Amino acid sequence: MCGIIGYAGDRPCLPVLLDGLEKLEYRGYDSAGVAWPAAGDFCTVKKQGRLAALRRRLEELAPAAARCGIGHTRWATHGAPCDANSHPHRAGQVCLVHNGIIENAAALKAPLLQAGAVFASETDTEVLAWLLDSLYKGDPLTALRSALAQVCGSYALAVLFSDRPGQIWAVRRQSPLVVGLGDGENFLASDMPALLAHTKRFILPDEDELVLLTAQEVQFFDAAGNAVEKEISTAAWDAQDAEKGSYPHFMLKEIHEQPEALLRTVLPRIQGGLPCFEPDGPSDTLLTGIRRVCIVGCGTAYHAGLAGKAMLEQLACLPTRVEIASEFRYAAPLLSKDELVIAVSQSGETLDTLAALQLAAQHGCPTLAIVNVPGSSLAREAGTVLYTAAGPEIAVASTKTCSAQIATLYLLAFRLALVRGTAEEPLLRQLTAQLSGCGDAIYALLQRKDKLQQLAARYSGAEHLFFIGRGPDHALALEGSLKLKEISYIHSEGCAAGELKHGTISLITDGTPVIALATQSALLEKTLGSIREVQARGAKVILLCPETAEVERSAAEHIIRLPAVHELLLPLTALVPLQLFAYYAAVQRGCDVDKPRNLAKSVTVE
Ligand code: AGP
Repeated sequence: MCGIIGYAGDRPCLPVLLDGLEKLEYRGYDSAGVAWPAAGDFCTVKKQGRLAALRRRLEELAPAAARCGIGHTRWATHGAPCDANSHPHRAGQVCLVHNGIIENAAALKAPLLQAGAVFASETDTEVLAWLLDSLYKGDPLTALRSALAQVCGSYALAVLFSDRPGQIWAVRRQSPLVVGLGDGENFLASDMPALLAHTKRFILPDEDELVLLTAQEVQFFDAAGNAVEKEISTAAWDAQDAEKGSYPHFMLKEIHEQPEALLRTVLPRIQGGLPCFEPDGPSDTLLTGIRRVCIVGCGTAYHAGLAGKAMLEQLACLPTRVEIASEFRYAAPLLSKDELVIAVSQSGETLDTLAALQLAAQHGCPTLAIVNVPGSSLAREAGTVLYTAAGPEIAVASTKTCSAQIATLYLLAFRLALVRGTAEEPLLRQLTAQLSGCGDAIYALLQRKDKLQQLAARYSGAEHLFFIGRGPDHALALEGSLKLKEISYIHSEGCAAGELKHGTISLITDGTPVIALATQSALLEKTLGSIREVQARGAKVILLCPETAEVERSAAEHIIRLPAVHELLLPLTALVPLQLFAYYAAVQRGCDVDKPRNLAKSVTVE
């Protein structure tokens, strides 16, 4: 998962490239580099480490101002993070940056070595540069088409040719790429936040489409090399949406944006007090024909699916399975044509989730994407789309998009229950109204963030921390655990509360922190029993339960009561204390909250 950027215009390119790379750093930050054509060759500057290291190097070099260039920020896949493996990579008359993986790089490299190529790195990307150079006879379009015909894998490329200063050639397959249109200048990047400071006019190249970008124009070609016309779209986001503002971290800002993100997501889909997805979402005709549901996703998106499963089964009485996308795609899944496959993804570019959706479509299943990024690959490949309207999510840890995903799945469950007649309309109206009201409940919880900060300070020194829950709270336990470990690096595990006695309880020792989730009244006593089990082994328990729950103060070391909403909706609000706890624990431990080690925001490789 890397970020690429390109600029051609009437301004010096370096500030545009560097500021854009800063917005892309959440995609990868092992190293960064820039390149521009100069005197029939290229200038390339690249450095291991964060973007600041590249900025310092460029300040030392103080290069002449170029007006066309490309840049890259890297999350290492092939070759360790080091200067030599950083992008851009050059070979002869070619210099390029790449996001993705060339899966047959080794096979392509052998003949290139025999032909005299001298490799400077261990990367798959450099193989592509040498291949392209070996095919370049003066026509970039022909050379690119010939080279890519030999390539297996995923890519978003930005390419310079030394004899064509002022031109940037680009192409994508499975990796994201957006083209930004300016006045006397044009841009390209891995995604929109990198360009929102310059333009809100975008064109999204389709799979295998090639792009020629100069200061004056942008041309598109299909895989066969034919010119194609493209539609210009306007971003719904503004530059400040992708800024931290007064918050110390994007993650804290995005946790606090949840009330409005929730409302922006649900309100446009409520008409007459009930969910309505037509004309642009899944139709009632489609929903009426569904006999089962399969939700696929990764990480937090997978957990959102688990939370949605509870509602789909309880209200719409639809058998619902939730699959980890990377498992689903290799499991030879048993799919039927009356099974709605829902791909949940913030970025809409997660390769495993995209492949899972494609597999479902190949089996003739109706597909639905619940995504946050407009025009993303998943949105374009799914049969129908329900966008979460959470706005750009910059922190690697998903927060506002998780609650928006769950809210969207809840709305879908309500609509399915309505068209299937499996729940009374008054209940569905009540749930729909209260779903909108969850924004207030989340806002109320945000006002109690000091409590979470205190608890995080108390327990952030723990070596291990466990989350337990039953039913929809098991999904919360998994998500709370992921949030904590991915940004604070505390080892954590989410566990079905009933499973503790089958193994995990052996890890509970004196002082082990356990966060117990009990949002459902029917399961409360059982979960209180699980709490007593771990307390008997010395655990210190933080209990999240409804404010109306009849729970003795002594039931847990700490009790966080959740504002009153219908208990079916409580898991949506219980997310917030878990997110805040993880955030403050990470801050307490001095971690890089927005860019946790080894992680990137969008996993566009396997
Ligand atoms: C969660 O905080 C992580 N950012 C990660 O698990 C993420 O949810 C996962 O990689 C899926 O990403 P997507 O939603 O963009 O598909």
